[in-house]
Amino acid sequence: MHKIDYDAYLDEGNLDNFSTKRIERKTRRLSQREKRLRREAELMEHATRLPADLQPRFNTTFRPAMSERVWLLSYLEVFYNAQIITDVLGKVKGGKEANVYCCTAHPSTGLELIAAKVYRPRMFRSLRNDARYRQGRVLKDEDGKTTRGRREALAMAQHTRFGEVLRHTSWLEAEFETMQLLYEAGADVPKPLVHSNDVILMEYVGAEDAAAATLNEVTLEASEARQIFDRLVDNLAIMLACHRVHADFSAYNILYFEGQFKIIDFPQAVDPRRNPETADLFVRDVERLCQYFARYHIHQDAHELADALWGRFLKANVLDADAVPLELEIGVRV
Ligand SMILES: Nc1ncnc2c1ncn2[C@@H]1O[C@H](COP(=O)(O)OP(=O)(O)OP(=O)(O)O)[C@@H](O)[C@H]1O
Ligand SMILES: [Mg+2]
Repeated sequence: MHKIDYDAYLDEGNLDNFSTKRIERKTRRLSQREKRLRREAELMEHATRLPADLQPRFNTTFRPAMSERVWLLSYLEVFYNAQIITDVLGKVKGGKEANVYCCTAHPSTGLELIAAKVYRPRMFRSLRNDARYRQGRVLKDEDGKTTRGRREALAMAQHTRFGEVLRHTSWLEAEFETMQLLYEAGADVPKPLVHSNDVILMEYVGAEDAAAATLNEVTLEASEARQIFDRLVDNLAIMLACHRVHADFSAYNILYFEGQFKIIDFPQAVDPRRNPETADLFVRDVERLCQYFARYHIHQDAHELADALWGRFLKANVLDADAVPLELEIGVRV
C-alpha cells in the first residue's frame, strides 16, 4: 500500500515554498514560541496546497486542524490499512512531544478502543533534555536496525538531520520496548500493541467519552490509597527486576480509572546496568511517590524505601556478575 511520509517529504525541502533551513535562518532570533507559531503557520499554508494525490484516504470522525491533519493522518494511515484501527474519535491530550488519540479498534484485534501516542514531527517537538537518560542506550536507525557506530554518536552530538532521526526513533523504540518488557512481567502498564517510527498503539485506559484521569486529578478513598501505594511499590520492584527505572515517575504519569491504575510515559526509562545515573533517578522516583501519598497520611520515608528496594535489586543481581557494573554498586547512594 502506498504510504505518504509527509514529515520526510517536508523535511527534505521538496517544495520550493517550504524549506526548514530557510525558516531556521529567518527565525533564528525569535523566541521559541514565536518560532513554533511561525513554523505551524508555514506548514498550514503549505498543507492547503498539497497535491490531491498526497491527501490520505483515511477519513476520521475527529477533525484535526489542518497543520495537525497533515502528519496525524499520514502517521496513522498504516495502522488503518493494516486493519488495526478503524477511526480516530478524538484527541485525549496534547503533550510537549506527543499527542494521544482515542481510536476505535478493528474487530479483529478483539479490542474496542486503542490509544495512539503519536509523536509530533521532529520540527514541532520539544524533546526533553535527554542526554541524562540516553547513556548506555542501544541506538536504532529509521529501519529499526541497531547501530553502534561512532558516526551515529557524532551525528547525534552534532544534531545533524541523521542524528535527529536516530534520537527520534530510538526514543520511541525505547518506550515501546520498556512497555513490552514490563507488561509481560506483570507490571500495571497499558498493553503495548504495535509501533512505527512515529506512533505507539496501546491499550486505551478509560471510556470512549472520558479518558482516564491522571492520579493528580483524582481524590482517592483512604483504604484505596493504601492499596494503590502498595501496588505502586510492587511495580517499582517489578521494574527493577526488569532492569528498568521509570525516571519520570509521578502522579501525572499514572492513569486512574474505576479503581485501577496504569503507569505510562516510558521513553526516558533507564537501565541500571548501563546508566550510571540510575540510582539518583530511582531515588527521585521514590521521593515523588512518597510525597504524593503523604496527602493520604501514608508517611513512608522515601530514602528508606528506595534503600530497601535497591538493596533487594542489588542482592538479586550479585549472582549475575555482568548484571550490575561495579561502579554502580560503589556509586550507589541508597
Ligand atoms: N493508554 C492510554 N489511555 C488513555 N489515555 C492515555 C493513554 N496514554 C496516555 N494517555 C493520555 O495522554 C497523556 C499524555 O501521555 P504521555 O504522558 O505518555 O505523553 P507525553 O508526551 O509525555 O505527555 P506530557 O508531556 O504531558 O508528559 C496522559 O497524561 C494521558 O492523559
Ligand atoms: Mg506524561
